[in-house]
Amino acid sequence: MHIVFAASECVPFAKTGGLADVVGALPPELAKLGHKVSVYLPFYAGVRRRIAGEPRCAVRSITIPFDYYNRFAAIVDGGLRDGVQYYFVDCPELFDRDELYGLKGGEFPNNWERFGLFARAVLEAAKQLGVPEVFHVHDWQAALIPVYLRTTYSADPALNRAGTVLTIHNAGYQGWFPPQTTQRLLFPWDVFTMDKLEQFDTFNFLKGGLVYSDILTTVSRRYALEIQTPEFGEKLDSVLRARAADLRGILNGVDYAHWDPATDPSLAAHYSPENLTGKTACRADLLRVFGLENLPDTTPVVGMVSRFAAQKGFDLVEQIAPILAERDVAVVALGSGEPRYEKFFRDWAYWHKGKVAVQIRYDEVLAHKVEAGSDIFLMPSRYEPCGLNQIYSLKYGTVPVVRATGGLDDTIEEWNPAQTSGTGFKFEGYSADALMAAVDRALAAFPDKQGWRQLMRNGMARHYGWEKPAKEYEAVYAEAAARRA
Ligand code: ADP
Ligand code: GLC
Repeated sequence: MHIVFAASECVPFAKTGGLADVVGALPPELAKLGHKVSVYLPFYAGVRRRIAGEPRCAVRSITIPFDYYNRFAAIVDGGLRDGVQYYFVDCPELFDRDELYGLKGGEFPNNWERFGLFARAVLEAAKQLGVPEVFHVHDWQAALIPVYLRTTYSADPALNRAGTVLTIHNAGYQGWFPPQTTQRLLFPWDVFTMDKLEQFDTFNFLKGGLVYSDILTTVSRRYALEIQTPEFGEKLDSVLRARAADLRGILNGVDYAHWDPATDPSLAAHYSPENLTGKTACRADLLRVFGLENLPDTTPVVGMVSRFAAQKGFDLVEQIAPILAERDVAVVALGSGEPRYEKFFRDWAYWHKGKVAVQIRYDEVLAHKVEAGSDIFLMPSRYEPCGLNQIYSLKYGTVPVVRATGGLDDTIEEWNPAQTSGTGFKFEGYSADALMAAVDRALAAFPDKQGWRQLMRNGMARHYGWEKPAKEYEAVYAEAAARRA
């Protein structure tokens, strides 16, 4: 089967979060199963820098009409990697910049135009480079592909037998724009109704994708249920309930080629469940990088790596910060994002030098060092569609403390010391008390060396590779293609 992926992020070309890891890892796994897979991405400045030599052209010029002007896009041939063909949509005035979505703390005001053009360019390019059986589109940035396919392009014989699958990686980001967007992207006005793209008088990209895609998926079983409720549905819960029969939860895998402490090139030493000694060197290396040398071995290190966004539960961390500072722990945090959380972490580190340390930036090598060098990994998310860091933590023998939501609930099992079963610590309600209680359970378990080592090994033995989810996607593609056959 030929599957076209369209997304705004993909490792190793462009990344702000887990979407990039998924779009980077699933296509090669599908290629291993014998499928033809092409991935389309915008040609951001960072992507341009990553390709060797002059960009090779796959399609010279595609005209994308808007309401009173045209833009022109080219398709850059990104070549074949691990059996997957990469194509980049080149439109310098829209994509040739360092940020993917906006300057610090904001969104580019013309994101409607950037990702509107992206959607249409992918369809036009596919007509020349190969129309797939299925377009697999990701998040709001690619969600207009199914909408164009079933409206503007519905009579196009080259395209109308292609099925569509939309994966929701995060329902909190939907792409809301003014009503006039309908006209500016040349959609017929009849898509701007409440049963289609209109939502509270805005033009909603994600809602369009939810309405027009053949099959919807999201990235864990629990999140698939949660988004059908008002608490997690981000005001799209009724749309999602209406499509419940076509909505599947497929838990993400992780790419152990990049996330394995036995081979990870970012680490000071390597280790495995059979031989954990290297982890001590990784911890020392991490503490050195964060300026926390001389920490006694008996003090656990709590690590965090995250986008600093409300989704991630840092307001709870803020509430327990004074209590945590009194406990025998050290805290290391790596992240960037909303100014209020950056300020919180900076202040916390300032007042507790030698105990709390933070690096406000995006740094892949350091992210690996935190996973390896910490004893405990904290993810108290308000919601978490899947979450990859807790899965990386399991592999790195770093015990996760998580809120029981979305993929965190699907992947982490509470430690039971009597039966020596379980992989981490979980709390239910979104409250500082519940988080503190879970952290305290972890701190109470830490001094029991033998028990803790068992807990680490339980996590390290869990396998979340892409083999199983790739098979589940394969079944979904077959279903989507069958609906159009
Ligand atoms: P989300 O996609 O919501 O941000 P995930 O847990 O799915 O959450 O994925 C986050 C990914 O981004 C992980 O690969 C993580 O290592 C990476 N990441 C997040 N923040 C940083 C950072 N400051 N530096 C390096 N990597 C980061
Ligand atoms: C989103 C979610 C995260 C998920 C990732 C990859 O960014 O916030 O939970 O792991 O997408 O699917």
